[in-house]
Amino acid sequence: MAAEEENDVVELEESITKEKTTKKKKTSTSKPQDDLLVFLAGIKGISEVMKKRLHKVLGSQGISDPRGIKTHTLKQLMELPGVSENTAKLLLEEVESIQGKLFLSLDEREQIEVKRKKIMTGSLELDELIGGGIPTGTFVELYGSPQSGKTQICYTISANCLLPREFGGLEAGVIWLDTEGSFNTQRLKQIISYYEYTHNIKNVKTDRFMVANTRTLAQIELALKEAGSIIPKNKVKLMIIDSLMDPFRAEYGGLGELAVRQKHLNKLLHMLMRLAEAYDIAVVYTNQVMANPDPFATAMDKVMPTGGFILGHASDIRIWLRRATSKIRNQHDAPNARRALITDCGWLPQNECHFSLGPFGVCDVDQEANHRKLAGELGVLFESSLGKEEKEDVKTEFATLD
Ligand SMILES: Nc1ncnc2c1ncn2[C@@H]1O[C@H](COP(=O)(O)OP(=O)(O)OP(=O)(O)O)[C@@H](O)[C@H]1O
Ligand SMILES: [Mg+2]
Repeated sequence: MAAEEENDVVELEESITKEKTTKKKKTSTSKPQDDLLVFLAGIKGISEVMKKRLHKVLGSQGISDPRGIKTHTLKQLMELPGVSENTAKLLLEEVESIQGKLFLSLDEREQIEVKRKKIMTGSLELDELIGGGIPTGTFVELYGSPQSGKTQICYTISANCLLPREFGGLEAGVIWLDTEGSFNTQRLKQIISYYEYTHNIKNVKTDRFMVANTRTLAQIELALKEAGSIIPKNKVKLMIIDSLMDPFRAEYGGLGELAVRQKHLNKLLHMLMRLAEAYDIAVVYTNQVMANPDPFATAMDKVMPTGGFILGHASDIRIWLRRATSKIRNQHDAPNARRALITDCGWLPQNECHFSLGPFGVCDVDQEANHRKLAGELGVLFESSLGKEEKEDVKTEFATLD
């Protein structure tokens, strides 16, 4: 074969292989199913042109699947460009019809409640206090003074939500709205590393964890809109807001603005409720405390959570966090011991338990000393006062252990 001819054959072979690989690539990267498109296609009584327009308009609102429609009220849907009252009603009715019947028997309702997943807190006692962990689909309020452990609980439940199912996790995504600018990546990674180490897990998937810096109420609302598309994609089961009332207190001042503030809070809580219900998500928010102005308040009511009745009614489980007494701290060699008291819940008694904040997040009081020892053995210095450089060292050291 002449050299020129030989070159042609090689070129031809190369082009065939290239074509084959592109074809292969094309088939393997086939588009994921567009649930919203499938849902719209099944609706009778809306023209094809209108369906295309609806797909675009709903998508611009962060709605990527039928459940996302449920997170909007009739009024909100009617406010979207080109959506009439009839179309909005039709959309909501269709969502309800594919989600099953509206009325359920006691047994059917129980089946739904039993199926709710529970997120572990890191402390068996705390899990038990709230009925076996934080159930999805509920609103949990953690309130207490600074350093009472609110954010540490949020870190530990986030790690537990991400963990694989065989290790008690939900293998589900987390959305964290950081309104105080206090979220610390290293702290969450430290806690995740502990679970990786103790369960001998190679790598907990952290790409389903999303954090947004939401210092203003406008940013929170924007984040919730964007969350509409993140939630189904990342299979989110936990949303953290640390803290909920801080931006409200910053943006509304004095008694004169209280009524408007509460109205705004109510609106935001309803947005959250619709998200939580549509996607069966646990919403956990932290809250600060204030002195109760009532001169006849009992010792237990001397401090109260901010947010008034509106927030009180929204929270399914309200937990008051405090430092444990010195007796408990000394008895268990747990200087970081805390108390958790359920102050309000429609199905749990007003009960109290103790837990601790250790180098690996939330743990049982009798485990704090062990955790400190383990952290020492691993050569891990988990003091929050560490500088950034030292923290990086800690991370590397811990990650190479297994
Ligand atoms: N790396 C760590 N190792 C051990 N304990 C820690 C570590 N980081 C934080 N803590 C404990 O957690 C406490 C702080 O708790 P947390 O951050 O949950 O407070 P908070 O209730 O969220 O307070 P705030 O209202 O100020 O946000 C510290 O005082 C310390 O006891
Ligand atoms: Mg905090």
